[in-house]
Amino acid sequence: MAIQRTQPDDTVSDDERAWWKEAVVYQVYPRSFNDSDGDGVGDLQGLVDRLDYVASLGVDVIWLNPVYDSPQEDNGYDISDYQAIYEEFGTMEDWETLLEEVHDRDMKLIMDLVVNHTSRDHEWFVESRQGNPEYEEYYIWREGDGDDLPNNWESFFGGSAWEYDEEREAYYLHLYDTSQPDLDWSNEDVRQDVFDTIEWWLEKGIDGFRMDVINLLSKVDGLPDGDPDSEWVGSEHFIDGPEMTEYLAAMDEQVLSNYDIMTVGEMPQLTVEEAREYADADGPLDMAFHFQHTKLDYDGDERWAVGEWDLTELKEIIGRWQNGLQDEGWNALYWENHDQPRVVSRYGDPVNYRRESAKLLGTFMLTLCGTPYIYQGQELGMTNAPWESMDEMRDVDAINHARELIESAGHESYEDVQDVVAYRSRDNARTPMQWDDAENAGFTDGDPWIQVNPNHDEVNVEAAEADDDSVLNYYRDLVDLRERKDVLVYGAYDDLLPDHESVYAYTRTMTENGDTEQVLVVLNFFDERPTVELPVEYDEATLLLSNYDRADDAPDTVSLAPYEARIYRLD
Ligand code: GLC
Repeated sequence: MAIQRTQPDDTVSDDERAWWKEAVVYQVYPRSFNDSDGDGVGDLQGLVDRLDYVASLGVDVIWLNPVYDSPQEDNGYDISDYQAIYEEFGTMEDWETLLEEVHDRDMKLIMDLVVNHTSRDHEWFVESRQGNPEYEEYYIWREGDGDDLPNNWESFFGGSAWEYDEEREAYYLHLYDTSQPDLDWSNEDVRQDVFDTIEWWLEKGIDGFRMDVINLLSKVDGLPDGDPDSEWVGSEHFIDGPEMTEYLAAMDEQVLSNYDIMTVGEMPQLTVEEAREYADADGPLDMAFHFQHTKLDYDGDERWAVGEWDLTELKEIIGRWQNGLQDEGWNALYWENHDQPRVVSRYGDPVNYRRESAKLLGTFMLTLCGTPYIYQGQELGMTNAPWESMDEMRDVDAINHARELIESAGHESYEDVQDVVAYRSRDNARTPMQWDDAENAGFTDGDPWIQVNPNHDEVNVEAAEADDDSVLNYYRDLVDLRERKDVLVYGAYDDLLPDHESVYAYTRTMTENGDTEQVLVVLNFFDERPTVELPVEYDEATLLLSNYDRADDAPDTVSLAPYEARIYRLD
């Protein structure tokens, strides 16, 4: 057996293994998953009712978006009580039932940890704005008279990051919505309260956390102005700030290290070098979400403009992360989440090759090194929805930016900016899960809080279950393959065609106890019919999975159909 291009270190030892590396995660956005009581909003009981479906995917972990008490200005990322459940989602007993039912199915549950900011309705903020000495310094306040802003930092959702508070007669910082004031992490009492909250949930038996914008906790002293031309003004002073690793190390030491859990940080603007440092710093993070591959279809740095994307750039990004974290840290693999538009509508073809391209994109995500996160509906090949008017939109981010675009660029109405707003809106991920072809896609008996994608008459779980060739059943095969093949989890990644503009081909190679296993993945990302020669050597090639009906054939020269994906085992 001759293995082409074996990696210098493709061996895996026992202490490199971990349950969370071998896991596949399924993300549930409870507001849009399943409504059990007909109020138009998904809820915990609704999720419990669908747990058999989730388990049938073969996934190991559920990441649940925030279910804490909240005024829902940012759909639960504005928390008013960390230890209570939002009423429309259910009660703490419902949540306890959920945890039990998840564990009964041999899955794990991780919760969202949102501690860069709270809601303005949180008791800490209410006390803080009143100047109660105990909470006075819990948030980032700056004096001002309502005219001069403390600095030029911007909110991610548009506009200034400062809001003037009449009651305290001062400005508070909010890097997101005005309803989401940033906590002052330099205050030890804040840190202690947050650590206590984390411990409280861990004691309830959860299996880990997804940590919201966790690299934003530390702000540079003095809060200096940021570069006015940067993508997010001020970010060089609040992303990966000076105390970040110290805060995370303390969190780990005091709480997290006492539990066998998994943690994944959401880290805007993260680079591989920083990811390695975070991993190195012995912090609480097992892995982190970076955003580089989600910006390929921006126009330059501009999120609210759509640009052409380039496969070689995707290869370059993925290669950097795959190779960069091979010996230090671990990748979190994702295409979609509740903040990203549907991937088929971005990097696939939702009109002519929805099924093929959804499968191709799934093949890619589930055959890379790292822990894959499947977002609800991705396994159906759900697509972006039409957003015909602003009234249909719910997302504070999309609505704010649509308004800004209309005002700033001399546009007159929503129609003028509809193309980009409808393409980019986070609402695309938040349309209800499509269970069947009934009026509201089986999501609710009431009026859904957000429109149901009209294509639910065709794209839905019921139809997909009845179709052997569905995206859903293909995802099940992918998850199953990954669970059976360690090489797909741990194997070293090697890009075979870094410069090819439409075909992505890579091997994954792993050596354990002297035995080498190798898998070859070939992906045709476009509506073309290329033939490629692959620099692989093998005695025998076995086709493990493909999104077209293919017989085994030699993978050294491959002719591919549009959006074709193949996974071979090479011996
Ligand atoms: C994260 C969340 C997003 C939220 C923001 C503010 O990016 O994923 O949904 O709006 O943080 O909490």
